[in-house]
Amino acid sequence: MQDAIVATDVEGRIYWTSRAFRRLCGYSKKEVFGRRPDEFLGGKDTNPETLKAIREAIRNEESINVEVLNYHKKGQPYWVSLELNPTRGNDGRLTGFIALEQEIEGQENGFVATRAKPDPSSFGSLERSRKRGHSRTVANLNQGR
Ligand SMILES: Cc1cc2nc3c(=O)[nH]c(=O)nc-3n(C[C@H](O)[C@H](O)[C@H](O)COP(=O)(O)O)c2cc1C
Repeated sequence: MQDAIVATDVEGRIYWTSRAFRRLCGYSKKEVFGRRPDEFLGGKDTNPETLKAIREAIRNEESINVEVLNYHKKGQPYWVSLELNPTRGNDGRLTGFIALEQEIEGQENGFVATRAKPDPSSFGSLERSRKRGHSRTVANLNQGR
């Protein structure tokens, strides 16, 4: 299984997703392009505090690592560990955001894309949010543009 990755512009609107991301959420390229992830991934049990933390990180152009409950197109909820980073051009200006979404629970029914469960010690309480420096990752990503 490849990495589920979603990239947005500075307004948080999707311009690129990996195939693994589309498999994980069940939506096609056409269905996600130009939309904000929470518009179709969020659902009734998605923690608003988590979305608030993401909003803050976006506003401050910071990296954030949170666990969020997403919903598959068919309605199935699944937990992902979301690692969000700002992307910057060579001039240092913000160009958007990129997130790696790793499923951590919710593959019981089989139609949600599966991936090996990460080491349980690598995730603690649900809905925690913590900030990390990912500048090197972002710099590497930018080099490939
Ligand atoms: C790259 C990226 C990936 C995101 N992935 C998710 C996601 O998987 N699930 C989700 O509920 N929100 C996700 N979001 C967050 C929402 O799209 C949105 O930015 C957040 O809920 C704050 O929205 P607000 O400003 O309307 O409160 C993501 C945002 C970005 C920029």
